[in-house]
Amino acid sequence: MKILAVNGSPRGEGSNTQIMLKSFLKGAASEGADTEIVLLSEKTIHPCKGCWACWVKTPGKCIQKDDMGEILEKLWASDLLLFASPLYVDCVSGLMKNFMDRMLPGVKPNFIEIDGVWRHPLRHGPNPKLGIISNCGFPQFEHFQVVHHLFERVSLNMHTKVVFEIFLAGGEVLRAKNILLKPLVLKYKKLLEKAGQEAVASGGISETLQKKLDRPIVAKDQYIKNANKYWDKQLAKLKK
Ligand SMILES: Cc1cc2nc3c(=O)[nH]c(=O)nc-3n(C[C@H](O)[C@H](O)[C@H](O)COP(=O)(O)O)c2cc1C
Repeated sequence: MKILAVNGSPRGEGSNTQIMLKSFLKGAASEGADTEIVLLSEKTIHPCKGCWACWVKTPGKCIQKDDMGEILEKLWASDLLLFASPLYVDCVSGLMKNFMDRMLPGVKPNFIEIDGVWRHPLRHGPNPKLGIISNCGFPQFEHFQVVHHLFERVSLNMHTKVVFEIFLAGGEVLRAKNILLKPLVLKYKKLLEKAGQEAVASGGISETLQKKLDRPIVAKDQYIKNANKYWDKQLAKLKK
């Protein structure tokens, strides 16, 4: 199985998203998957111009010469595509949204109806299945409502389906230096590894594991207390 993971965090290699991806992909690789991460923060991907050239002038190709063409080739050749993004303003990051806009060469312009939904036909063979990975600053899972809905729609547009979602509320604990948090983070990373293994072995994540992944790493009240303490400390530095 070929897995292409697209990390939309501007923090790139140092992001919580990357920590999540690396653990997941470690598990996936242990089951024999061929894995690759694309850090959008290190790529040059210009915004879509909305010119329709990829539909009518150079079918299947964008006229902009940047890194997107190569990533699209990899995307079309993969079996599982991981959209991995931090939550920004209740949605995906700008880097990720920009990337998704530039996936337009993957479809042809005509309108077709499938199961009551109007879509564009795919230009290539079947698209990969989708896995969604996201983390956010607030410690409540409700904050992922828009991202969940977004990828439901995206999967229809891509004629594929979302086979799992991994959301981590209060994701900043992943990079926290507090020694007491280390064992909890390690336990969570092991769950991600298991998720990677299951995704390759069975094409999805079991209900038992999903339930464990849907729990916060740190209790909400504790997280909020520590977060406020952290921000107060940062601001106090300004006064010195
Ligand atoms: C511009 C911006 C917007 C954000 N918007 C939200 C938000 O709407 N809800 C939320 O819970 N966290 C929000 N966050 C916090 C990030 O989701 C959080 O810091 C996350 O852990 C970053 O993950 P990363 O290290 O993978 O980039 C925002 C952060 C930034 C910089």
